[in-house]
Amino acid sequence: MDAGNADARPSGGDEVTDQQQASQTQASQTSDRKEPRPKETRAQDAQAAVHSFETHGSAETIAAGREIAKLLVPPRLIILRGELGAGKTTLVKGIAEALDAADPEEVTSPTFTLIHEYEGTRQVNGVSQPLFLYHLDLYRIDAERQLDALGLDELIAPDSIVLVEWGEKFPSVVKRSNGEIVIESSPGDCRKITLSLKG
Ligand SMILES: Nc1ncnc2c1ncn2[C@@H]1O[C@H](COP(=O)(O)OP(=O)(O)OP(=O)(O)O)[C@@H](O)[C@H]1O
Ligand SMILES: [Mg+2]
Repeated sequence: MDAGNADARPSGGDEVTDQQQASQTQASQTSDRKEPRPKETRAQDAQAAVHSFETHGSAETIAAGREIAKLLVPPRLIILRGELGAGKTTLVKGIAEALDAADPEEVTSPTFTLIHEYEGTRQVNGVSQPLFLYHLDLYRIDAERQLDALGLDELIAPDSIVLVEWGEKFPSVVKRSNGEIVIESSPGDCRKITLSLKG
C-alpha cells in the first residue's frame, strides 16, 4: 500500500534529551534492546487490564509498542487516541515490529490511504500463527458513509488486530472496539501511554 509518508499534519520534535540519553545508557548496560517495563498493571488478567508506560523520545515509544504487542491477542480492535503528533503512528511501528509484520521504518502514516495492511505472526504455545495487522487513520474521514467503504467489519477477524487512529470520532468504531491506547504529551519528548483492554 502507501509507501510514502507525506503527512502534512504538524508533529512534535524528536530531540534527544539528557534524561533520555541517561536512561538509554543505563538500559544498554543491562540489555541491547530497551523494553520499558509497564509502570503499572491494574489487573492480573492481561486480557482485561490497564497497562501504563512513560516514554522519552520515539525510540522508547517504539519499545513500548513492542511490549504492548505481547498483550494484544486477536481479535482486537484498538482505538489509538492522542493529539496530532502524540506518537500514535510511532507506537504502531513497535507493535508491527514485534508481530513480525513490518520493520519500524516501513510503518508510515495511513493518513491518505486510510488503511495499511501487514501480515505478521504470533507465537501460540510455541507455534507460529499467522496474523493480520491493520493500521487505520480516520483523521480525514468525516462521514460514516466513507467509513463503510473501508469495510471495517471484514477486517475484524479471529486472526486480526486492527489499530485505529482517530477512531473515537465515530461511535460505530467505538462500539466495535475492545480496547484503547491513550497517548498524552507532556513537555519535551515525554509521553504517557495507557493501554486499556476490555475482557
Ligand atoms: N516520546 C515520544 N513518543 C513518540 N513520538 C515522539 C516522542 N517524543 C517525540 N516524538 C515525536 O513526535 C512525533 C510523533 O509522530 P506520530 O506520527 O507518531 O504522531 P501521531 O500521533 O501518529 O500523529 P497524527 O495524529 O498526526 O497521525 C514524531 O515526530 C516523533 O519523533
Ligand atoms: Mg499518525
